[in-house]
Amino acid sequence: GKGLFTYDPGFMSTAATESKITYIDGAAGVLLHRGYPIEQLAEKSDYLETCYLLLHGELPSAEEKETFVNTIKNHTMVHEQLSHFFNGFRRDAHPMAIMCGVVGALSAFYHDSLDIHDEHHRVVSAHRLIAKMPTLAAMVYKYSIGQPFMFPRNDLSYAENFLHMMFNTPCEEKKISPVLAKAMDRIFLLHADHEQNASTSTVRLAGSTGANPFACIASGIAALWGPAHGGANEAVLNMLEEIGDESNIDKFIAKAKDKEDPFRLMGFGHRVYKNFDPRAKVMKQTCDEVLAELGMEDDPLLKIAMKLEKIATEDEYFVKRGLYPNVDFYSGIILKAIGIPTELFTVIFATGRTPGWIAHWNEMISSDYRIGRPRQLYTGHPKRDYPA
Ligand code: SDX
Repeated sequence: GKGLFTYDPGFMSTAATESKITYIDGAAGVLLHRGYPIEQLAEKSDYLETCYLLLHGELPSAEEKETFVNTIKNHTMVHEQLSHFFNGFRRDAHPMAIMCGVVGALSAFYHDSLDIHDEHHRVVSAHRLIAKMPTLAAMVYKYSIGQPFMFPRNDLSYAENFLHMMFNTPCEEKKISPVLAKAMDRIFLLHADHEQNASTSTVRLAGSTGANPFACIASGIAALWGPAHGGANEAVLNMLEEIGDESNIDKFIAKAKDKEDPFRLMGFGHRVYKNFDPRAKVMKQTCDEVLAELGMEDDPLLKIAMKLEKIATEDEYFVKRGLYPNVDFYSGIILKAIGIPTELFTVIFATGRTPGWIAHWNEMISSDYRIGRPRQLYTGHPKRDYPA
């Protein structure tokens, strides 16, 4: 190569990560989980069934599904000591800061009794994480508004239970709207896994050292937090609110093209999809269903989002760069309609992505893996002596 050093391209290991879990074709807008298209899973499956599929590789039989659902139910409570952990945080701490802390803290409760080379221990860890993330996410919300934590209920479905822990109080337990529960389940499902994205690669790299799965998932949560990744759903809502009115859209489009000011339209573009993101299409459909059910078709933010999508996807600058709405573009509008505050959006993404993270961790640990060691191309000073 050019510059100070030549390097042997062969040395630059291009070994991609091998996995059987998810397949993405960015140009064709295809996303398969263990071979099943995301559109079909979103329509015919549900979140916990998709968790089972990601973890075990096949759709469960009716009996296997019932056993799995019951197993998850029996792990939804967290150790009482964890609730004391929250008290160290200010009430206005960012929810992702708290999630990094409390999920990492789960290590302290299970680390000593966990042998990651025992398949059963790995599966139990997966069950614990899938089961406890909604409980912790709801605790983060309750802590921020000064309400008491709500215990999970075993008579509710996974998504109903989450909304119960989020919005009910000991004074009154309202029935959870089936429409909102279905939308919540769909949001979790659409976030469940996405191949070697930044946070999943972080979990795999951390896991390759033999670290315990709870600490590895905490490292995935940290990576997901960034606005270029999972933090985008929060950033989309902030951007739509900043745009404020359809008449301001052109100004934002112009800013996004201005090379001097590296503003990026949140919710647009993707590392892999250079065409549409299949999840965004399903998310848009869900958005229309939820807002119609709630009588919110005229939601001003939805109007701005739809106008922004129309303008951007007809604009040569965006089309040439393959910039289309991604999974984060419409999810925030649904979450806001459900009543979830913007700063909690990335926590929802982390909760939905947990089965993907843990399935990739499990796939690696159960294979003949080696510690991760990304290659480097050294472009610094050649050897030189310390001044005499
Ligand atoms: C997720 O990897 C995954 O799978 C992630 C994810 C998952 O499920 O795990 O799908 C979830 O993270 C979705 C992405 C959420 N992020 C955002 O919505 C933030 C806004 N998007 C951008 O930051 C950006 O599009 C990225 C980070 C998503 C992709 O970044 P890239 O790969 O560096 O973008 P690119 O190289 O494809 O950009 C090509 C061009 C560049 O311009 P040129 O240098 O060619 O002139 O497009 C421009 C970029 O400047 N560009 C944008 C833009 N995204 C890229 N310009 C304006 N607005 C944008 N959003």
